[in-house]
Amino acid sequence: SAALAVPQAGQAGREELVLLSRVGVVDPASLDDYRAQGGYTALRQAFAIGPAGVIREVTDAGLVGRGGAAFPTGRKWQATASGPDRPHYLVCNADESEPGTFKDRVVMEGDPYSLVEAMTIAGYAVGAHKGYLYLRGEYPRALERMEHAIGQARARGLLGDDVLGQGYAFDIEMRRGAGAYICGEETALFNSIEGYRGEPRSKPPFPVEKGLFGKPTAENNVETLVNVLPILTMGAQAYAAIGTGKSTGPKLFCVSGSVDRPGIYELPFGATLGELLDLAGVRKRLRAVLLGGAAGGFVRPDELDIPLTFEGTREAGTTLGSGVVLAFDDTVPLPRLLLRIAEFFRDESCGQCVPCRVGTVRQEEALHRIVDRTGAEAASDIALLREVGRAMKDASICGLGQTAWNAVESAIDRLGAYE
Ligand code: NAI
Ligand code: SF4
Repeated sequence: SAALAVPQAGQAGREELVLLSRVGVVDPASLDDYRAQGGYTALRQAFAIGPAGVIREVTDAGLVGRGGAAFPTGRKWQATASGPDRPHYLVCNADESEPGTFKDRVVMEGDPYSLVEAMTIAGYAVGAHKGYLYLRGEYPRALERMEHAIGQARARGLLGDDVLGQGYAFDIEMRRGAGAYICGEETALFNSIEGYRGEPRSKPPFPVEKGLFGKPTAENNVETLVNVLPILTMGAQAYAAIGTGKSTGPKLFCVSGSVDRPGIYELPFGATLGELLDLAGVRKRLRAVLLGGAAGGFVRPDELDIPLTFEGTREAGTTLGSGVVLAFDDTVPLPRLLLRIAEFFRDESCGQCVPCRVGTVRQEEALHRIVDRTGAEAASDIALLREVGRAMKDASICGLGQTAWNAVESAIDRLGAYE
């Protein structure tokens, strides 16, 4: 809904927003308005310091990927930039599909030029002249706004043969996904762009070496890319002062479920889960919080002091993922919820490898039986779930299969879901 495009009430003052500072304020259709509100200052700065300077700033800022995996962006860009093969590509992964995730949509709908500018800077840094924006098919408003923004930027010389008259050529081509969750996996996404089935490739080789069309490719999430703008405008040091030593900068969190004010919240890394839920107005009788989405892990209501950082959530035995926070009160039937998650993975498995293709079916069947029965009778199915879960984790080709049992496992071990 449109309300999601505006930072939610209860949030720290608007002046403290970094990533969402223009969302809900700037006219998303107006390049002039974007420029009047600081747009294209970062690209000018990028041209002033050169590609190596941009990579140095991004590295010094400590930026890590916001799609969920937290890989150091500077390292990814350095590896792509130094790839001997040509051409190089930049790919923006906007196939945001993790259940409960809608942050990239808000950025693209509310501040589309920021992504055009950030992609141009990333392309410049890694030596690419072509960028692909792979957009989730179910985001029609983001599609319309990004298409318009790209067209306007091209018409005004901010994309094309000679960006800003600096002798650098860069353009962006959009591709739409068609509803497959797996196409958000970077190598499945490359296959999809190339016209093949959206099936993941084995890694290594990593995309920085052999990515899109087999060429060195930097693939980044929308939120990761737009972080480059404040890094260049405020400087790496000031940026790194936000958040914690290991998780630097601001972060977008998607809060939904049993809360009064669902939406996107921007907070510095290091705020606690409880602080975030207080802003969202958590309802009484909280039963569980799922962090990281369907592939994430549950935490209990007595664990709300977990710091929202990559290292803090890892130490607490869960994951921050892409910043999904799903709250459930005690009216939500957990076994049904887990079954729904299992159905999702069974449905979205691409079927390429046996552990995931078969394991996600076995997992769903066992959870079905548990929902239909109770108590001690569930014990043998829980043992089966553990065995299947281990096989999926150890032997699946990609992250989908490797994490398809995470939520169920944490619900059993942490929440005692079937006791
Ligand atoms: P990954 O850990 O395999 O890779 C992360 C990134 O680092 C990739 O771009 C990879 O190419 C790069 N990389 C890793 N090792 C490298 C090396 N040695 N050299 C060069 N590059 C290297 O994780 P993956 O499978 O790409 O992503 C998993 C994450 O995606 C999970 O954390 C999950 O939460 C998240 N996810 C997010 C969704 C969303 O809608 N935002 C949907 C589904 C999953
Ligand atoms: Fe496909 Fe699942 Fe194998 Fe990934 S783990 S390649 S989604 S079958």
